[in-house]
Amino acid sequence: MVISKGLVRTKIPLSKPVFDEEMRDAAIDALQNERFVMGESVFEFEEEFARYCGTKYAVSSSSGTFALQLSLIALGVNPGDHVVTTPFSFVATANVALHVGAVPVFADIDAKTCNIDPELAKEKLTNKTRAVIPVHLYGFPADMKRIVEIFGEKGCAVVEDACQAHGAEYYGQKVGTLGDAGCFSFYSSKNMTVCGDGGMVVTNDEDVARKVAKLRDCGRASHYEHDLFGFTARLNTVNAAIGRVQLKRLDEWNEKRRACARLYDKLLSDLDGLVLPPNGSFDVKPVYHLYVIRTNLRDKLKIWLEQRGIQCGVHYPLPIHLQPAYRELFAYRGGEFPNSEFLSKVALSLSMYPELRKDEIGYVCENIHDFFDKI
Ligand SMILES: Cc1ncc(COP(=O)(O)O)c(C=O)c1O
Repeated sequence: MVISKGLVRTKIPLSKPVFDEEMRDAAIDALQNERFVMGESVFEFEEEFARYCGTKYAVSSSSGTFALQLSLIALGVNPGDHVVTTPFSFVATANVALHVGAVPVFADIDAKTCNIDPELAKEKLTNKTRAVIPVHLYGFPADMKRIVEIFGEKGCAVVEDACQAHGAEYYGQKVGTLGDAGCFSFYSSKNMTVCGDGGMVVTNDEDVARKVAKLRDCGRASHYEHDLFGFTARLNTVNAAIGRVQLKRLDEWNEKRRACARLYDKLLSDLDGLVLPPNGSFDVKPVYHLYVIRTNLRDKLKIWLEQRGIQCGVHYPLPIHLQPAYRELFAYRGGEFPNSEFLSKVALSLSMYPELRKDEIGYVCENIHDFFDKI
């Protein structure tokens, strides 16, 4: 074990963003030769991202949160409307409803996939419901056929939160392209990053694309004319330039993540005390943003691994409805969404990134075996 000043030095991190020479060159080139804001690289990145996803339009933003928020506005979600979503996600998924004056209405997850359960979501549908935000959590596609069927039929907007699922596929289509708008984050731990904050909305709806493009740029109709109440939520040129290089590698990186997941599956499948992530299929192809195992001994196992230099994560220790801000506003007390609350106690994210080596996965798994042997 490597000890440094009484702390265990991390040998295997949870995630590892890539920043290489090609990205550095692209960044410097953009800084030297383009406008810092709304330079050529922004529009090229948007075009390439749309092509990658297979949509007509892609509009970048300064974060995944803004991608979601601007999509809701562009799709006509108004103050007082209800937005159905999952309580088991990053808090931004629900915050965006509040930011537009709407009410986030939670429906519990399917305990197997950790994604919103369409049948429970259906129970939340009322004449106030204006949109649904399914999340492809951990890179595993949500049950979009059923969600689109249930909510699309009622005229509700379907906004996919694909912030953890760049490149994941669902019946031959990239996630993010299955509803009215799909939203991505390029935060540094994601399957691809812009080496800073950034986001993207993809859509086939020209009107939505135009509105999001205006909203992220102060509501501009032209330079000095503003016909919408917009935001300063643009992606910086330098980040777009890095994003273009990252996008070229995304498929190769996702393939490597899948290979890592297969190896974890193989090395951990004999442990009775552990539940492994759901497998994909021919039709549902996850991208393993995170590799999340489940055990009742989660907290002890986490400490055990971290003492051995293996960083772990918990996504998420508190479901959104039990976050202090939500408890206060909506008087949640716990017990409302049992699957999410259960998962928040047993889920443990293991190291996952494209450059993770076989011997490192072997080391992680060996230590997990040791833990279960000793308890
Ligand atoms: C599921 C989910 N939704 C939304 C977001 C928000 O994205 P950002 O951090 O880029 O605002 C994230 C990323 O952190 C996320 O993981």
